[in-house]
Amino acid sequence: MGQGVLTHYAEFLPLTPATPRITLGEGETPLVRSRHIERETGGEVYFKLEGCNPTGSFKDRGMVVAVAKALEEDSKALICASTGNTSASAAAFGACCGLKVIVLVPQGSIALGKLAQALIYGAQVIAIEGSFDRDMEIARGLADRHPFTLVNSLNPYRLEGQKTAAFEVIEALGDAPDYLFIPVGNAGNITAYWRGFQEFHSREKSSQTPRMMGFQAEGSAPIVRGEPVADPRTVASAIRIGNPAHWQNAVTAGKESGGGVEAVSDDEILEAYRLLANAEGVFGEPASAASVAGLLKSTRQGLSLEGKRIVCVITGNGLKDPDTAMSQAPEPTVFPPDLEQIEKAIIGAPGSSSWTRP
Ligand code: F0G
Repeated sequence: MGQGVLTHYAEFLPLTPATPRITLGEGETPLVRSRHIERETGGEVYFKLEGCNPTGSFKDRGMVVAVAKALEEDSKALICASTGNTSASAAAFGACCGLKVIVLVPQGSIALGKLAQALIYGAQVIAIEGSFDRDMEIARGLADRHPFTLVNSLNPYRLEGQKTAAFEVIEALGDAPDYLFIPVGNAGNITAYWRGFQEFHSREKSSQTPRMMGFQAEGSAPIVRGEPVADPRTVASAIRIGNPAHWQNAVTAGKESGGGVEAVSDDEILEAYRLLANAEGVFGEPASAASVAGLLKSTRQGLSLEGKRIVCVITGNGLKDPDTAMSQAPEPTVFPPDLEQIEKAIIGAPGSSSWTRP
C-alpha cells in the first residue's frame, strides 16, 4: 500500500535505473460500488474515485512519471497550461522535487480550490484572458524556446502514468468492465485508459476490453460537433476546452472499443453532480459528474446494461470547486444558540417526527 505509481507499476512504465522513484502517494484509489444510481441502469455500477489522489485528481498518476523523467533529464522547470487540476498536480510535484513550476490558466474560469493549490504549492501562476486553448499554444511556444519541460498530456509520460488507473480497475474487478464512462476535455485520459485496457488485455490479464464511453459538455463539445469550438462554455470548468490535443486518439478509442464520444448538457451534469453527492456520498467535481450524466443519459435513451459491469471515472474531488457546490445546494439556516428553537426546526412541531430522510 502507498508505494506510488512508479514503484507499483515499474514494469509497465518507461523507467530506467536512473529514474528517481518519487511519490506523493498517488494511485491505489478506491473502486466503490454504487448503491443508488445502479438501480436506474440495471447493471453493476462502480465509481473509480480519482479525487482520492494526493492533489485531488487523476493528474497525479501521470504527473509523477512526467516529473520523474524531467528530473532524470536534469530539467529545472515545469510548464503547463491548465484548467486547474494539471496545474495543481504540477505545482505539488515541482514543490517536492525542487523544480520551478510555471502554470498558465484561463483567467476567471478556474475553480477556486485549484487556484489555491497552485498558489500555496508555490507555482508561478499566470492567468490569461481567453480560453484554455490559447494558453496551451502559449505554453507550447514557451517550452519550445526555453528548457522547460511541458507537463501537459502532450508529454508522453503523462499518459503512461495515467494508464495505470485502467490496470487498477482490472485488478479490483478481476477483469475489465463492460463499459467505462469518462469525461473528456483535452482527451488525454480517455486515451490513457484505452491504452491501459489494451495493454493488460494483450498480457492476458483481462478477458475483454471495455466500450469507452467519453462525454464532453454540450457547450464545449468539439469532438461531437466535428469542429473546434472557439468560445467553449460549461459549468464543468475542467473540461471547458474547444480544441483537444488528443482529439484523434479519443475518436480512435471510441471506435476501436465499440463506444464513442458524446455530449451531455450542463443541466444533466449538475443533476448527476447532486445525485452523486446526495445519493451516493461521492463528491466529485462537475467535470467528473459528466461520466455519470453520460451513464444516466445513455440508459434513459435505451442502452441496455442488464447484467453488465460499468465503471464511471470520478476524475476530481468536489472540494476543488466550492462555488459550484454552494450554488447547487440550499444555504445553511442561521439560529440563535437556543435548544428549543433548533429542536423545533429539526423535528418540527411537538408530536411530529421527521427522523428519516425523505
Ligand atoms: N476531469 C477533470 C477533473 C479534469 O481536470 C480534466 C482535465 C478532465 C476530466 C478531462 O481529462 O483532459 O484528459 O480529457 N483537466 C485538464 C487540466 C485539462 O488542465 O487540469 P482530459
